Amino acid sequence: MHVTHLSLADFRSYARAEVPLDPGVTVFVGANGQGKTNLVEAVGYLATLGSHRVSSDAPLVRMGAERAVVRAAVTQGERSQLIELELNPGRANRARVNRSSQVRPRDVLGIVRTVLFAPEDLALVKGDPGERRRFLDELVTARSPRMAGVRSDYERVLKQRNTLLKSTAMARRHGGRSMDLSTLDVWDQHLARVGAELLVQRLDLIATLQPLADKAYADVAPGGGPVALDYRSSVGPEGAASRSREELYEQVMAALAGARKQEIERGVTLVGPHRDDLVLGLRGMPAKGYASHGESWSYALALRLASYDLLRGEGNEPVLILDDVFAELDTRRRERPSWWPPASRCW
Ligand SMILES: Nc1ncnc2c1ncn2[C@@H]1O[C@H](COP(=O)(O)OP(=O)(O)O)[C@@H](O)[C@H]1O
Ligand SMILES: [Mg+2]
Repeated sequence: MHVTHLSLADFRSYARAEVPLDPGVTVFVGANGQGKTNLVEAVGYLATLGSHRVSSDAPLVRMGAERAVVRAAVTQGERSQLIELELNPGRANRARVNRSSQVRPRDVLGIVRTVLFAPEDLALVKGDPGERRRFLDELVTARSPRMAGVRSDYERVLKQRNTLLKSTAMARRHGGRSMDLSTLDVWDQHLARVGAELLVQRLDLIATLQPLADKAYADVAPGGGPVALDYRSSVGPEGAASRSREELYEQVMAALAGARKQEIERGVTLVGPHRDDLVLGLRGMPAKGYASHGESWSYALALRLASYDLLRGEGNEPVLILDDVFAELDTRRRERPSWWPPASRCW
């Protein structure tokens, strides 16, 4: 896949921008604040319908303008497509594919695929488990787009189960009727069924990513590894990658049964994939809390490079975007890194 042209209107600092892109490596060079990251962010938006820097769309619209438009021409094999997103903060965004009538914005997902490294990725290593779960689930979805539906099903089931637990907890506190536990049994089964599906995919992903991450870290920081990716599950001992969906279903069900009393007291779901973490090990220690700033940066970069290798190896080659990648690497690690694309392709 190749983005052949990027076109912006009132996006961030750009009133208008037309950026033709050749196959191979493109390097944007410029002073601070010149708009390099803004370009990267626009491409990332087409791939994810969100920014890697801000959680709402408003800052993406040029100050004083009402809406922003991001357009891209994308070539995949013989096929070329033109996609267009109109960002309307506070109102629904609009999308078009090939100038035809409107489609839902999420229908453009999958046309542009990216792996993006940005300074914000430091949070993958230093931040809360939620950052790492999102990393896993986004990659799971990039490998297998149908997982987008599984993820939203899980969110929905979790929300409804939490609502039920909360109202039960409230009723108990105020001496109300004790709940009908058979309703909760049904939600347990839903949660375990969808949760097991997500777990299977996360565990398979981690097993596949592990050797690639170790290699990428060795390339970024020679001699600095090894790295180990270790899934910590709230449903019990870390599942081996070979564990089947049925076994994981039973494991989630057992964990829910074990946690039920406490869940009813607290009014919230305490076990399941939404409570899990990916422990990033570096030389036998967790990177979080132990690794230096530069090592954490190298680790986050290695995770993105490994993601790119994984998707490319599986025939889903994305666009690799590296923003400010050298900012925190020491000079030895900046000099002609082996993971950098061949210089002959740079311009
Ligand atoms: N919504 C906006 N409207 C106008 N200018 C903006 C908007 N958002 C960001 N900018 C400007 O964009 C610039 C940052 O661009 P950026 O791409 O992050 O720079 P860099 O080239 O250093 O990566 C800043 O000068 C900022 O003022
Ligand atoms: Mg920048």
